[in-house]
Amino acid sequence: MLRFLIACLCLIWASPVRADPSFRATSPNGKTVVEVGSSYGEATYQISYAGKPVITRSKMGFLFTNAPKFDRSLSAISHSTRSFEETWELPWGEAKSILNRYNEMTVTFQDGRGAPRQFSVTFRVYDDGVGFRYHFPDQPNLKQIAISEEMTEFNLAEDGTAWWQPAGEWNRYEYLYNRTPIREVGQAHTPMTVRTKSGLHLSFHEAALVDYSSMWLRHAGGTKFISTLSPSSRGAKVVRSAPFSTPWRTIQISDDAAGLVMSHLILNLNEPNALGDVSWVKPFKYIGIWWEMHINKSTWGSGPKHGATTENAKRYIDFAAEHGFRGVLIEGWNKGWDGDWFGGETGFDFTTAYPDFDLKAVTDYARSKGVHLVGHHETAANIANYEPQMEAAFALYENLGVDSVKTGYVADAGGARYRGADGQIVFEWHDGQEAVRHHLRVVETAARHKIAINAHEPIKDTGLRRTYPNWVSREGARGQEYNAWGNPENPPEHEVNLVFTRMLAGPMDFTPGIFAINPTQEGHRARTTIAKQLALYVTLYSPIQMAADLPEHYLANPIPFQFIKDVPVDWSETRALNGEVGDFVTIARKDRASDNWYLGAITDENARRLKVPLSFLDAGRTYKAQIYRDGPNADWDKNPLNIVFEEKTVTDKQVLDIRLAPGGGQAIRFVAQ
Ligand code: NOJ
Ligand code: CA
Repeated sequence: MLRFLIACLCLIWASPVRADPSFRATSPNGKTVVEVGSSYGEATYQISYAGKPVITRSKMGFLFTNAPKFDRSLSAISHSTRSFEETWELPWGEAKSILNRYNEMTVTFQDGRGAPRQFSVTFRVYDDGVGFRYHFPDQPNLKQIAISEEMTEFNLAEDGTAWWQPAGEWNRYEYLYNRTPIREVGQAHTPMTVRTKSGLHLSFHEAALVDYSSMWLRHAGGTKFISTLSPSSRGAKVVRSAPFSTPWRTIQISDDAAGLVMSHLILNLNEPNALGDVSWVKPFKYIGIWWEMHINKSTWGSGPKHGATTENAKRYIDFAAEHGFRGVLIEGWNKGWDGDWFGGETGFDFTTAYPDFDLKAVTDYARSKGVHLVGHHETAANIANYEPQMEAAFALYENLGVDSVKTGYVADAGGARYRGADGQIVFEWHDGQEAVRHHLRVVETAARHKIAINAHEPIKDTGLRRTYPNWVSREGARGQEYNAWGNPENPPEHEVNLVFTRMLAGPMDFTPGIFAINPTQEGHRARTTIAKQLALYVTLYSPIQMAADLPEHYLANPIPFQFIKDVPVDWSETRALNGEVGDFVTIARKDRASDNWYLGAITDENARRLKVPLSFLDAGRTYKAQIYRDGPNADWDKNPLNIVFEEKTVTDKQVLDIRLAPGGGQAIRFVAQ
């Protein structure tokens, strides 16, 4: 027995324990440090921040369906570094200019037992985190790459709390956020947010998801996660030819929750604008024939309750013109809504209107009033039906002066219909490689027609708005619509969760502004105060924002409605002033078109009192603060409409005492004097 044990020990000793020299890169301020090397013949990386480990040694690699995995003899054969700094401008956004400053390190690995094969990994090390991506160079022994799984590990150094949504389940990205110990995470979508025991805030996500499958995070025991790619009907989850690079795997790191909101790492890792002059992409606010269908007052389909009639459209256009909204969304005007359209059963027609809707007359009328129709393409995820019609559908809108289109992909996850290589219908996930390709085809086709895209039931945002600035917004989480029919509706903590999870990916078309907060159909309602609905325009960034409620509800509440009319959608600066994930947040933003600042504060189900220094205001300037706050007895449940409006003169030297009711919020417009 002893002899056997000694023999085993010797074997272990003699096995290829080569720990190659590791390579190190630090962020410009020296706080974030990455080390890359190989261990037991496998490629590994680790990350530390402010001298403490964040990600301990974690493996990087792949499984293929058409080739053996890289064997366990990988070694780093070359290594290069560079530093980069630029400041670039967003054509529209939450900020005007963004600093992109990092140190980069590329390490190339090669395996050796058979015919040698290579891949490299490039790390960009930022003060606010790390992005890394794989590259498969052109090489004789690995040309066609069919990936059955990406095996990137994320070994968290510390335990903590995670905010996450399940991945691989039927409702795409529309689950309530779980707040659990890291050890209780299952399979999660990204962005996934973590607060470690020592108080570090991390966000795991990806950037520049192009021609690849979305990354999910599979909990692999303890504090370890492994990437899992969204499936494909083909078997292999990703099929590409070398050379190609994967999307960036990203870990944003901050000492506090607000720092995550301030990070531009995802955008920075995307390629610059590929569309040239995009002055035709306009940020705007819009109303629409929309909420009335969600609360069952009218229908998308034809019949006596049809919402999208010429007459109703003109009523909304009049309201938009009178109150300064650029856009009017009209859903349900085109044929295909009758019958069971969910999951693409009926097949939409994107250019033929119902008889009670005259598209040309409506767009002519809108134009005469300075209003723009917001087009709608509900595809029900029947891509095989949509793609052949796409060119004609965008051309029709372009000819009529429609310069933005909301798309939709209502179907269960895994139920999107595509035309396979043999012409037969295949079913795919909303976030697999096919979906990733499809969304970009839509955005590129729309760009040729100078049309902006706002996708619902979309692929997740990975910052591609930098490269394609006509991709203005999307859904990709539970939006306001759940307050019309959700079981349950969005709980009071939902929007605060969004700020520190979904919103870290990019703009969301949440559709704020529901004033009819008292129960609607079957007792459904928004679980917020009316002041919180206003604060959402500042806290949930999107360059297109809807005023989602019915015109009559706005006319009945002219004072809070004034804030929706005033609030801009395009900003020169953003500051996250305070916040805790899932609990509360205060965000201030400066209007791009004036010297005015706006502030939004929101809380979960708990009342709070926040001391907010106004030091973000321009020094030495006086402002008239128009304050929309929860009234003394406001409460999302018992008294949601209790709101107080008051005006004060303030300067940057003052500290504001902000009281938020349970499920409440506060919105402030600071008018520069
Ligand atoms: C779901 C979208 O999120 C919603 O906004 C839209 O009204 C319906 N689909 C119908 O397209
Ligand atoms: Ca939706």
